[in-house]
Amino acid sequence: MSEIILGIESSCDDTSAAVIKDGYLLSNVLASQDVHKAYGGVIPELASRAHQVNIVPVVSEAITRAGIKAEDITAIAFTRGPGLLGSLLVGTSFAKGFAIGLDIPMIDVNHLQAHVLAHFVREPGVESHLPEFPFLCLLVSGGNSQIILVKSYKEMQVLGQTIDDAAGEALDKCAKVMGLPYPGGPVIDALAKEGNPDAFKFAKPRIGEFDFSFSGLKTSFLYTLRDAVAENPNFIEECKCDLCAAILHTVVDILAERLVKAAKHYRISDIAIGGGVAANSLLRERIAAEGEKRGWRTFIPERRFTTDNAAMIAVAGYYKYMNEEFSTLDAAPVARF
Ligand code: KG4
Repeated sequence: MSEIILGIESSCDDTSAAVIKDGYLLSNVLASQDVHKAYGGVIPELASRAHQVNIVPVVSEAITRAGIKAEDITAIAFTRGPGLLGSLLVGTSFAKGFAIGLDIPMIDVNHLQAHVLAHFVREPGVESHLPEFPFLCLLVSGGNSQIILVKSYKEMQVLGQTIDDAAGEALDKCAKVMGLPYPGGPVIDALAKEGNPDAFKFAKPRIGEFDFSFSGLKTSFLYTLRDAVAENPNFIEECKCDLCAAILHTVVDILAERLVKAAKHYRISDIAIGGGVAANSLLRERIAAEGEKRGWRTFIPERRFTTDNAAMIAVAGYYKYMNEEFSTLDAAPVARF
């Protein structure tokens, strides 16, 4: 009999549902929330309200696109955390109600582990290129920057992480002070292609072996802007592309240098990246180039599997299902583990 897992993701500002059958993705539906754009950042209360509006149509669309009926679903996987509590509450409560209604088990999923397991999303008719354990994953998003030693589907050891801002958060904040729209990461990605990365030099952190820090870089960026704008009020407008190129190259250098160090230290040559910032063109090119140079097998996911999505929740749920790791009705959302 086929195992059909419905995955539900609602940890931040994307409502997503996906259906996986025997490990293969049948549908992945996503509703992003534009409501936050006006505020330059995610407003938690607005996010949970938008999830409430979106969740039924998104789940129903995922079921329709998968060509199945609700009664065919074997189990429901949902993001339990980390994330925004109100947002998580919507997905968790929906999953509970739906699981009770269908009389099927529920599986709680750790959002960060799911980002790593996004590399195991297989699609019918598409040749799979899957990492082998143990592998390293650079997980970089708006809330996290980690280097993870992935020993199995559930055994993941964090080797290093940010001690302050996450990489995406630093890019978003730098974009904000330049007056660019939210989220700033993709805008910086595009503008950096037109700029000269050597036009400015920003501070790089000198901290623990595999850890990251981006707050010094952010401060150095702010000081550069403050001094230059005092002399030329049009500085930001005139130098936007160079500023974006310089900040992005510095962030990518910091990430790549630490990842290379970890790969050498642990003698691992299967190297993956994941999380929203893994959508970045320069980071993708840099990791691919390091891979060529060092003989790594690199795993760079399609962009739709880097940012928040339910396909990765369903796949993480599938492996937990196969291990009979179910959750109970008292499973509560968790903002931080
Ligand atoms: O994983 P994700 O979707 O969710 C959160 O962590 O909330 O990551 C979102 C982050 C944001 O900081 C966004 O600016 C960044 O990923 N991001 C990018 C790109 N696309 C998304 N950063 C750089 N270049 C991109 N193309």
